Order: sequence, then C-alpha cells, then structure tokens
Amino acid sequence: MDELLQTARALLARCARVAAFSGAGLSAESGLSTFRDPDPDALWSRFDPTELASVAGFEADPERVIEWYNWRRGRHAEVRPNPAHFALAAQSRLVQITQNVDSLLEQAGADPERVYHLHGSILQDRCHNPDCAYIEIVDMQGPPPLRACPRCGDRLRPAVVWFGEALPASTWRKAEALCRQLDCLLVVGTSATVYPAAGLIELARAHGSRVIVVDPNPGAAGDLADVFLAGAAGQVLPALLEGFDLESPL
Ligand code: OAD
Repeated sequence: MDELLQTARALLARCARVAAFSGAGLSAESGLSTFRDPDPDALWSRFDPTELASVAGFEADPERVIEWYNWRRGRHAEVRPNPAHFALAAQSRLVQITQNVDSLLEQAGADPERVYHLHGSILQDRCHNPDCAYIEIVDMQGPPPLRACPRCGDRLRPAVVWFGEALPASTWRKAEALCRQLDCLLVVGTSATVYPAAGLIELARAHGSRVIVVDPNPGAAGDLADVFLAGAAGQVLPALLEGFDLESPL
C-alpha cells in the first residue's frame, strides 16, 4: 500500500487539472450506510429501491417513502464529517463531484459552489409536480410527514434523484464538461454501477485523464483505475492529499 500511495502521490504531483468523484463510501466512516457493498447494513440489501427510490414507488405509497427518507434524515442529522471529507474539503480549489445527497463535504468546509451534487440533496424537499419549481429546506432534526406543496397542491418529496429520473441538468453539464478536461480524476467510495453518474469515470479516461480509486473493494471502479488504493477513505485520503493544493478547471 505504501508504494502504491507514493505512486498515486507522484501522479497527482504531475497533474494540474484534478477533480474528485465520490460515492456513499466517502460517508461510510461517518456512520451513513452505503447502498450496495458486502456490508449487511447496505441500504439496498435491506430495502427495495424500486419501492423507495422511484416515482412508481412514491406514487404507490408516498407515506412510506417519506417515512423512509425521514428515517434517513434522522441519521444524517446525527453524523459528522470524517477525515476523508476534511481531506477533500481542504483542497479548496478542487471540484467535488458527488453522488452523495448528504452535506458532509460542505460541513467539512468545502465551498458549496465547488460541490456538484449529481443526485440532489436530502436536506431539501421539492414539489413532485415537474412543472412546479417549489423547493424548501427541511428541518433534519424533525422532518415533516407527507404534505402538500403550498404553491400548487401536489405533494412534496425529497429533492433527490430517483431511479429513472434525470440528473439536475446544469450540474450534470458542468460535471461532464469538467471530466473532459482533467489530468486526473480521484474516485472515492463508489461502486460505479449507477449511470449516468458512473459514466463520468469512463468519460474522463476517454479524454486522457488518469484515474486514482480509493475503496476497500476493487468493484467496478477498480477496473478503471490507473492506481487503486485499497482502503477506507478516512485513512487513505489524508495521507494521499497531504501537502497538495489541487485545482480543478472551472
Ligand atoms: P454504493 O453503495 O453502490 O457503493 C459504495 C462503495 O463504497 C463501495 O464500492 C464500497 O466498497 C465503498 N466503501 C465502503 N466503505 C468505504 C470506506 N470507508 N471508504 C471508501 N469506500 C468505501 O454507493 P454509490 O456508488 O454512491 O443513488 O451508489 C450510487 C448511487 O446508488 C447512490 O447515489 C444512490 C444509490 O442508489 C441515489 O440515491 C439516486
């Protein structure tokens, strides 16, 4: 591992244009469950995503979906950033593309303008009616039950992206544009199985970027790595990034 860590650091030292791309593994050491890793706590081992993270599931049983997200919100309200979030956030000029709906990178000090949330935010509700732009911040300590949109009367729902839904268009465009001009993409804690987000790794590679992957399990992202650092993000990232001031092209 030490040798690979040095290889990755030497690679980063040669790279002027870097970005990070993270998934649920980044927040695992904070105490938030991942979705699909060997850990039996992984959310999609315990719950059915078609029931809880799809428009059809919401239409079928909106109360249950809201209850489930409110249970997750309770967990999110309790957790704090871990050393991996702090190590990434300390790279203040680095863009953080993330699939995570939590705000732990921002809580660790990352510039919100430089955090691209591809899958939305669990901290907000939005109107389920695609023609209504109503959005509001949720009290994470005491999230409200299913309720009507004060603007149009449809139902409010978490402002996260569900299976089958489009990613937020402008965020996605910015992420794609960025990945076309990188020297290195630092991939942290993602199974890289959910598209289109996971396709950013292939996109970056196709445009000449190197890829460093940090994850305890090789998984899908490991196959795309120039350097694979097997380990927990909270241990690997502080050592990997110490002394760097990495920058993303904006
Ligand atoms: P997954 O749960 O699919 O993958 C989590 C990854 O984190 C796995 O590769 C684990 O090995 C790794 N991991 C676990 N602990 C780690 C640690 N301490 N340090 C580093 N890595 C660790 O999560 P995502 O790839 O983020 O979508 O999942 C993608 C999307 O699927 C999520 O955004 C979510 C889900 O359905 C939506 O909510 C729309």
